[in-house]
Amino acid sequence: MKTYLVTGGAGFIGSNFIIYMLKKHKDIKIINVDALTYAGNLENLKSVENDPRYSFVQADICDRQAINKLFSENEVDYVVNFAAESHVDRSISDPDIFVKTNVLGTVNLLNCARAAWSVGDDVYKPGVKFLQVSTDEVYGSLGPEGYFTETTPLDPHSPYSSSKASADLFVKAYHDTYKLPMNITRCSNNYGPYQFPEKLIPLMINNVLNHKELPVYGDGMQIRDWLYVEDHCKAIDMVISGGKAGEVYNIGGHNERTNLFIVKTIINYIKENVDDTVGEHLIRHVKDRKGHDRRYGIDPEKIKNELGWYPETPFEKGIVKTIKWYLENRDWVEHVTSGEYQKYYEKMYSNR
Ligand code: NAD
Ligand code: TYD
Repeated sequence: MKTYLVTGGAGFIGSNFIIYMLKKHKDIKIINVDALTYAGNLENLKSVENDPRYSFVQADICDRQAINKLFSENEVDYVVNFAAESHVDRSISDPDIFVKTNVLGTVNLLNCARAAWSVGDDVYKPGVKFLQVSTDEVYGSLGPEGYFTETTPLDPHSPYSSSKASADLFVKAYHDTYKLPMNITRCSNNYGPYQFPEKLIPLMINNVLNHKELPVYGDGMQIRDWLYVEDHCKAIDMVISGGKAGEVYNIGGHNERTNLFIVKTIINYIKENVDDTVGEHLIRHVKDRKGHDRRYGIDPEKIKNELGWYPETPFEKGIVKTIKWYLENRDWVEHVTSGEYQKYYEKMYSNR
């Protein structure tokens, strides 16, 4: 029986990961630690909340006492750190919280894990591992050619990606200095159920359904490498069990699309299947994001060759599954977009 301390498990990828893991493995225990910020929602975990293998604790990853308590009350084998401030636009208007959660929070988790797992000078309980969930954005931006590999120099541009790169460097330092067993995964853009509608795909789905303008930043020809969230979860599971300690693994499915392509795909699906009054007339090119990275593209050869990972959901299938999920879960969207979201939307988009 392995025990996973999953941080940020009430967010988009974390909740998908918990659901995926409990379905995939019988003999595991998952403790979900989440501060429940605007991005955390326990509704995401309804399907597992009564599972005896699952428990939830509301706590901040920066809280030394609370995290130490969790380690002392449980035999934790793995930490999987999803907890973060994750939205680039928010990091541009309010960087401080990104430093606190993403950098200081990660360092706090590292300190607690190191203390709890230590059985001697830089010797740890067998089999333990700290997995840091990171992003391809730490590598910066690509030109039209080439891909990010694990040896691409870190060159983050936004406060978000800078905070994630800093966290990665601390995780590496705890391995290099104290030999703490760890892996870092760097994934491309995810999409799928439970993604908060501040991110491109769910924001556009929600806006099309509500006949609202579709705010495309700049020319809309920026490229992201989209991966269905379940394929990311599968990769993390494989890295936890098979990744060599100290290694970084890039995760991506060679699925590069321009933002305009994504927006038009969503419009066309909804026009054909839901509401024929929507159309490309809803697109509005708005002021570009500051420091906007032009292109991300992952080279996933290492995780494919070493661990045999491959993505299972082609984009054409994944995007339809995702749109259908948002259509079937209008209540969820309603709940997460009432209140604070309205103020956020107004602030982010009104003078653009
Ligand atoms: P999210 O914003 O949907 O969820 C973040 C979760 O962390 C929320 O549940 C929130 O309540 C929780 N949280 C925030 N601050 C906390 C704190 N101080 N203590 C405890 N919990 C806290 O994010 P996501 O999209 O699910 O991303 C999860 C992780 O994956 C992040 O580390 C992100 O950098 C990384 N990542 C995301 C993507 C993507 O496309 N979304 C791609 C690659 C990597
Ligand atoms: P986002 O989902 O915020 O992810 P990230 O910035 O981490 O890649 O944005 C994806 C792309 O979509 C990015 O190039 C910015 C763009 N974008 C828009 O054009 N309009 C929007 O309203 C949003 C939220 C994003």
